[in-house]
Amino acid sequence: SSSSTVQSAIKNVTIIGGGLMGSGIAQVTAQAGQDVTLVDVNSDVLAKSQKSISNSLNKISKKIYKDNPQEAEKFAKEAFARIKISTDPVSAVKETDLVIEAIVENLEVKHSLFQKLDNAAPAHTIFASNTSSLSINEIASVVKRKDKFGGLHFFNPVPIMRLLEVVRGMDTTDITFCTMMDWGKSVGKTCVSCKDTPGFIVNRLLVPYIAEAIRLLERGDASARDIDIAMKLGAAYPMGPIELADYVGLDTTKFILDGWAKKYPDQALFRPIPTLNKLVSEGKLGVKSGEGFYKYE
Ligand code: CAA
Ligand code: NAD
Repeated sequence: SSSSTVQSAIKNVTIIGGGLMGSGIAQVTAQAGQDVTLVDVNSDVLAKSQKSISNSLNKISKKIYKDNPQEAEKFAKEAFARIKISTDPVSAVKETDLVIEAIVENLEVKHSLFQKLDNAAPAHTIFASNTSSLSINEIASVVKRKDKFGGLHFFNPVPIMRLLEVVRGMDTTDITFCTMMDWGKSVGKTCVSCKDTPGFIVNRLLVPYIAEAIRLLERGDASARDIDIAMKLGAAYPMGPIELADYVGLDTTKFILDGWAKKYPDQALFRPIPTLNKLVSEGKLGVKSGEGFYKYE
C-alpha cells in the first residue's frame, strides 16, 4: 500500500478507548508502521480488541500479499506487535506524539479524560477526538493546549472505510491541522477538511437520512426489507439505511439525534423517533446486541 510512503511527524500514537472504533484506529496506525498504545478502562475489552485486530490483520494481509503467505504472516505479526495495551491513560501518554480519544460519546466523560491527559502529556503532543456528534470546541474547552486540539473522525469499519474527516476547532493552528492531515494520509486514509459543525460532513447527511428511512418505515409506507433493497439497487449504497442503522448501533443513532434535538429544537430532521426509542429501551441495539430492526445470529 502507499500508506508507508508518506513521512509523518507522528511516530508514537496513543488511542484511548479500545472498543469498536479505537481498535480499528489502533490497527490502521500499526499497519502504517507507527508505535501504538491502546488504552481502555476495561481489560476484558482490550483482550477482545486484540482478538478482533488479529482477525482483521490476517484478512487484510492476505489481500495485500496475495501470492506470498509468508510475507502476509510477517506483515500481520509485525503490525500486531506494534500495539501495546494499557489500562492507565495517564502513563500511556507520557511519550506520545498524538492522542486519539475514542471513548464513550459523553461530553463530561471526555472532559474528565482530557483534563487528566493535558497535565500528563508532553507539550508538543496533539490531542484529537473521534466524536461522531459532539462539538470539538466544547470538548477542547477544558485543555490548555487548544491550539493542538482537533477532530479525527473515522468510519466503521475503520480498516475498510477510506475516509478520514479532519476537523478544525476555533483555536486549531495551521501547523496542527496540517500535521493531522499528513498523519491521516500516512495511515492510508483520504482526508477531507471540516468545520466544527454538528456531524461534520458525513453524519450531518447520513444521520438525517437514516432517521427519514425509519420514519418512512414507521408511517407504514414500505417494509424494512424493501427500503433497504430500494437504496441498495436504486442508489447503489452498499447497505440500506435500516440495516446501516443496525450496523452503526441504534443506541448510537438515538444518542446522536437526542443530542442534536436538544441543541437545535427547531430542526425537524433531528426530532425523536418513537420506533427507534422503543427498540433501544428494549435493549435491541442492532448487530452488536443480536437484534435491532433485524435479527442476527
Ligand atoms: N477488517 C478486515 N476486513 C473486513 C472488515 C474488517 N473489520 N470488515 C469487512 N471486511 C472485509 C470482508 O472480509 C470482505 O472481504 P472479502 O471481499 O475478501 O470477502 C469485504 O470486507 C467485504 O465485506 P462483506 O463481504 O462482509 O460485506 P460487504 O461487501 O457488504 O462489505 C461493508 C461490508 C464494507 C461494511 C459494506 O457493507 C459497507 O461499506 N457498508 C456501509 C458502511 C458505512 O456506511 N459505514 C459508515 C457508518 S457511519 C460511521 O461510521 C460514522 C459515525 O460516526 C457513526
Ligand atoms: P465502544 O462502546 O465500542 O467503545 C468505547 C470504549 O471506551 C469502551 O470499551 C469503554 O470501556 C471505553 N472507555 C469508556 N470510558 C473510558 C475512559 N475514561 N478511559 C478509557 N476508556 C474508556 O464505542 P465506539 O463505537 O468505539 O465509539 C467510540 C467513539 O467513537 C464515540 O465518541 C463515538 O461517537 C465515535 N464514533 C463511533 C462510530 C461508530 O460507528 N460506532 C463511528 C465514528 C465515531
